Amino acid sequence: MARTVVRAARPEERPAAEALVGAAFSAEPPAPRPADGSEDWSDHLPRVAVDEESERVLATSVVRLCGQWWGGRRVPAAALAGVAVDATARGHGVGRALVADTFAAAREAGALVVALIPSTHAFYRKAGCGIAGRRSVYAVGTHDLRDLPRDRSLSYRAATPQDAPRVAELVAAHATRTNGVLDHDRGTGSAVQYVAERDGAVVGWCALGRRPVRPGHGGNYAVTVLDLVGADPAAEFGLWRDLAADEPSAREVHTLVRPGGLLEQHLPRQTDVVEDSTWMLGLLDVPAALAARGYPHGVAGRVVLDVTGHGVLTLDVAAGVARVTDGGTPTVQLGPADLASLYAGHLDPVTARHTGALHGEDDAVGLLRTFFAGPPAVLDRPF
Ligand SMILES: CC(C)(COP(=O)(O)OP(=O)(O)OC[C@H]1O[C@@H](n2cnc3c(N)ncnc32)[C@H](O)[C@@H]1OP(=O)(O)O)[C@@H](O)C(=O)NCCC(=O)NCCS
Repeated sequence: MARTVVRAARPEERPAAEALVGAAFSAEPPAPRPADGSEDWSDHLPRVAVDEESERVLATSVVRLCGQWWGGRRVPAAALAGVAVDATARGHGVGRALVADTFAAAREAGALVVALIPSTHAFYRKAGCGIAGRRSVYAVGTHDLRDLPRDRSLSYRAATPQDAPRVAELVAAHATRTNGVLDHDRGTGSAVQYVAERDGAVVGWCALGRRPVRPGHGGNYAVTVLDLVGADPAAEFGLWRDLAADEPSAREVHTLVRPGGLLEQHLPRQTDVVEDSTWMLGLLDVPAALAARGYPHGVAGRVVLDVTGHGVLTLDVAAGVARVTDGGTPTVQLGPADLASLYAGHLDPVTARHTGALHGEDDAVGLLRTFFAGPPAVLDRPF
């Protein structure tokens, strides 16, 4: 195997990098990009592994720098997409070196956590990432949306670039109530984007796409909801309700259904899962990531964590925030991937102790459970 070098990608290497991603994920090619160079990539860090002698691109990855919301606070984050190694170069450590370099570059740029949708859990677990949640896309009957309360005060228009700050505000307000939400991305998969207005103010937004109908389900296409946010419950209901206008061309709306959210509580019947995946989280800077997130109010206590490969740190939680200091006498031992799963509220500490992923006394483990309690984390926008 020739020697490889990992580094930032040069603009002229982008076509070769996109060809690698296309070849690795041929069933889902990357979203088409504008050919006129108008795309804003200032918040993206593209990296490559190249053959040292020929400079041929052997592997590629890209992260988008953004915020991710945890416990009501925005944590500087990186969303990792499109890791692909040329089929001829796999199995020689190229992917591992590229991911380590990408994570280091993201941390250097200020990101404290990294979020990704893996095709290969084992590979990312070795890089310190743990499962953070599920991403289940459901096929909701368009007809069923007709039963939701209509908000007749809403009117719609196509979103413009000038709407981005207000939409980002709506996304952020929603994000403070839940976990795992990424900052608004103006691109949102190059989808059709609408804003909803009430009395001249933007109170909602959605990004929609289309996909072929599932065999036997009728209609001309299925609507896919890439994002949908309302400023208040009436606006959110109204946005869902108005998707029923696509019936009968679209018999189904394919969408994430947030556990415990408005849509889940008001759908009249069970829906089919049409896509199911997990997503993963990595803590790029363990103490800083623990200090940056929010914690449940009313919970106070101290846990001393011994994190494999990172040393011992003391976590003092009070008034919704944590103070993190080096050292202490450990009360809990665990690895970085499991700590990331805990951080996401996906791995329950009591269960983790039972399975051997974590060691600790009852009080410390019980306290950890309360620190990371919260709504299931949903990575709810494409990147
Ligand atoms: C997954 C992929 C990125 C791995 O790259 P690679 O260069 O072959 O991986 P490496 O040789 O660096 O392997 C690093 C470690 O991960 C493990 N690993 C790699 N691919 C794995 C897989 N599919 N399943 C389980 N473990 C895997 C290796 O065994 C190795 O473990 P070790 O450190 O204990 O030796 C590459 O195979 C690829 O591009 N696949 C197609 C696209 C894809 O799946 N991308 C990733 C998801 S977004």
